[in-house]
Amino acid sequence: MDHLLVRAARGEPTERPPVWLMRQAGRHIPEYRELREEYSFLEAIKTPEIAEEITLLPWEYYRPDGVVMFSDILTVLEPLGFSYHIESGVGPVVENPVSGPDDVDRTFGNVAHELDYVGELLVRLNQRVGDETAVIGFAGGPFTLASYAVAGGPSRTNMPLRKLRAAHPEAFRTLLQSFTDIIKEYLAFQIGNGADVVQLFDTYAGTLTPEDYREFVLPLHQEIFEDLNAPSIVFVRRMNGRLDLLKESGADAVGLDWTVDIGEAREQLGDVPVQGNLDPSYLFGDQEFVREKTREIIEKAGPDGHILNLGHGVNKDTPVESVEAFVETAKEI
Ligand code: CP3
Repeated sequence: MDHLLVRAARGEPTERPPVWLMRQAGRHIPEYRELREEYSFLEAIKTPEIAEEITLLPWEYYRPDGVVMFSDILTVLEPLGFSYHIESGVGPVVENPVSGPDDVDRTFGNVAHELDYVGELLVRLNQRVGDETAVIGFAGGPFTLASYAVAGGPSRTNMPLRKLRAAHPEAFRTLLQSFTDIIKEYLAFQIGNGADVVQLFDTYAGTLTPEDYREFVLPLHQEIFEDLNAPSIVFVRRMNGRLDLLKESGADAVGLDWTVDIGEAREQLGDVPVQGNLDPSYLFGDQEFVREKTREIIEKAGPDGHILNLGHGVNKDTPVESVEAFVETAKEI
């Protein structure tokens, strides 16, 4: 029998909604914070033993239905010639961002070789978690990766990349295509090494106009999801109701942030499975509140084709007890 998470992503009947949380392996877990005193973020993700240990921390705490490999969307930057690190209090920093419209046609070597640490991590996870738990792989989407490559770091409005779209649309297109080419290979590599489900995080693409999204981003998402050999989930924040753009991506399931009503999303999307969408801040309420709001989402989403998750990543100060209450609520159904 396939994993509960795999069946839900395909819209097949499930006895209850599977549950996992974006950023479940991170700073809200005390052992993670301890490990990070010993290793930098990049050391941690590039050392398969350590990345395995971190990936399994939330599994030991909560037994979610999926473990998401401990890594980052930015790993593909290095094969494309960018150097980056994570600076505490700032976030990701790209040390040599795109220097101009002539610096966008990026090629890469052998992904399996350059990102071998990710393959090794997936193999290890498969040996550890057994049949009940799905191993979740992921990649950043082309727009979100290009956002870091152009801005050189986090950019709330993505103005640098949107300016490139306006002033040099062909360069913008070329850069997004370079990322798309590597994302396709990278996801196939992850699936080949044991990822049961993959999620594409094009978190920032909702900052484009719907016309630009349809012209520049949607065809790339379609290209990415076209030939994948595993169930897939697409996630973009702040789509302002344009769920049609996610549905048309060709992903098996559509991730929802907390700004959409999951019941209305179901009506718009028809039989396309959904993932989400508890507001991550709700985990700072008391446990009864967490349970009540989680049950509301499960009821609104209806049976089958629903993967319970947050609407975005777990916040770093989230109480462990709240995450427990969230996961248990799904398991009690
Ligand atoms: O548990 C998991 O979900 C798996 C691992 C994971 C991380 N990042 C670990 C991480 C995943 C799936 C991501 C995705 C990611 N990374 C996205 C897309 C999803 C989203 O959250 O919007 C983006 C945009 C990034 C880029 C990135 N990497 C950011 C913005 C940050 C800084 C976060 C912060 O709050 O400072 C990172 C670093 C990072 N990636 C951390 C973790 C656990 C924090 C590292 C640390 O300080 O210890």
